[in-house]
Amino acid sequence: MSEITPPSGAIPRTAAVIPAAGLGLRLGGGTPKALRELGGTPMLVHAVRAMARARAVSLVVVVAPPDGVGKTRSLLDEHPAPPGVTQLVVAGGATRQESVRLGLAALPEDVGVVLVHDAARPLVPVTTVDAVVEAVRAGAPAVVPALPVTDTVKQIAVPAVAGEPEPVVATPDRALLRAVQTPQGFDRATLAEAHAAHAAGGDATDCAGLVERLGVPVVLVPGHEEAFKVTRPLDLVLAEAVLARRRPPS
Ligand code: C5P
Repeated sequence: MSEITPPSGAIPRTAAVIPAAGLGLRLGGGTPKALRELGGTPMLVHAVRAMARARAVSLVVVVAPPDGVGKTRSLLDEHPAPPGVTQLVVAGGATRQESVRLGLAALPEDVGVVLVHDAARPLVPVTTVDAVVEAVRAGAPAVVPALPVTDTVKQIAVPAVAGEPEPVVATPDRALLRAVQTPQGFDRATLAEAHAAHAAGGDATDCAGLVERLGVPVVLVPGHEEAFKVTRPLDLVLAEAVLARRRPPS
């Protein structure tokens, strides 16, 4: 558990960690995904702003590719955070899990609530961020925004053979499935414990999964359709359309 004990009754400080050290190869285009522009502004800057807009957040830690720390710092200097919010850049690792762990290691001791948010979800509305923070502050150790699944999902046999039709082994009941988003919110001590317990060679694509493996309950709150992950070229088109809809008419 954490060594940090805030004075009783005090609201613990909230920080956001943004893993942005991935290459984003599925998007194509040659530029690292986090630096691709949406509405003329790099995706990473949108993601940082989305966290900084939440009233609870006073620190945003961006985890950059190890060879891109200087460039990321310059980028954030060009796009300063709102008053009262500090931006910090640290070097990431080979996997998302490693990058998050390095981001957590950079948090000051007085942080008690941590949001982990993918740079690849630049347009998450502040209402979703606030709802996640509120649920953690209300006592949930791990909170994940999620949406019902609209596609029917098939489970395939492992290992699938590349190029061959894939054998189906199951069709899970869609009503019981949820697609999860970020920011995922955590009691800091719980998240640190989960990462420490699974540090060796892990490649968890979501932090809540590590908390589940500790046996600690994880709860879902409603996600938002605008919190989608920009992964493929078509997602860029959708993201531009969402931004255009948000812009006030001139
Ligand atoms: O690859 P995927 O889209 O799941 O990555 C999710 C997030 O994790 C992205 O924001 C990406 O930049 C980040 N990531 C990272 N370090 C890695 C791999 C991915 O910070 N080594």
